[in-house]
Amino acid sequence: MIGSAPAWLQIEASGASPALLEAVLEAEGAVAVTVSGSGDEMLVETAPGQSPAWTQAAVTGLFPGDRDPAELAAALRDALAPRSIDCRPALIEDRDWVRAWMQDYRPMRFGRRLWVCPHHAEVEADPDSVDQVVIRLDPGLAFGTGTHPTTALCLEWLDAHPPAGRRVLDYGCGSGVLALAAARLGATDVQAVDIDPQSLVATRDNARANQLEQRVKTGPVEAAEPADLVLANILASPLIELAPTLASLVHSGGGLSLSGLLAEQADAVQAAYAADFDFVGGAARDGWVRLDAVRH
Ligand SMILES: C[S@@+](CC[C@H](N)C(=O)[O-])C[C@H]1O[C@@H](n2cnc3c(N)ncnc32)[C@H](O)[C@@H]1O
Repeated sequence: MIGSAPAWLQIEASGASPALLEAVLEAEGAVAVTVSGSGDEMLVETAPGQSPAWTQAAVTGLFPGDRDPAELAAALRDALAPRSIDCRPALIEDRDWVRAWMQDYRPMRFGRRLWVCPHHAEVEADPDSVDQVVIRLDPGLAFGTGTHPTTALCLEWLDAHPPAGRRVLDYGCGSGVLALAAARLGATDVQAVDIDPQSLVATRDNARANQLEQRVKTGPVEAAEPADLVLANILASPLIELAPTLASLVHSGGGLSLSGLLAEQADAVQAAYAADFDFVGGAARDGWVRLDAVRH
């Protein structure tokens, strides 16, 4: 993709929490997202319909220049409805933003030994982490390099609970980062599904680049099969809607890790799954929460 677009579409959005805007821009395929605005605003989400407390904070997403600005703005408004989102699109010159951004994209460690490392870099030797587990991944059009807290929370969980010998389902795979991590950490069989065809292409490419194509299989959500562990890093409202589907995809006694929800949305998500799951743990970062559950 690098160098192929004559220009980039930059879209600045405000009117919702920066965390939510960032997630929606990334889900729409932003190759880079930056947050700007008043640093002392409360970065919290309000209930739909309430006045936002963070009107000055703006989040800017960078998209390939062939994206239709009106279609993209409409998709963002739809995703964040009923909030009133202000979107300011602008076409900007090709200054090889992706390459510039990639130079700042460095190897990242999650937990004790799991690393996500761009192809152009090397993981530093670390005496505390001799058994390093490395996934090679470059930022691309699909969400998920580990830079977002929701992904980081899942990667840290995988590092602490390696799914060795288990079948894993990554529901909403994006770049496939969680599927690749699960396979690298010993899962025998990993299925990665998404509603976005671009994500399936990205996951396949990333699996091949990591020589994991035999163990990481991609497919549409309709092809998802039950697993011992299901990982789903999606926003709160789809997670709530998907509760019956995801419950049917976790083997009895199997695990479910849900991420992509804001702290104040955790109770509602948990309630949607309570009939089938015991919630056994979780973690939080920058206002985002991961919930861990075991199927009855
Ligand atoms: C926040 S990204 C997570 C990507 C990656 N798993 C990670 O942890 O970084 C959410 C992904 O879920 C997908 N998604 C959104 N709604 C979905 C749904 N209802 N069913 C399946 N996938 C969905 C999006 O296309 C996107 O790739």
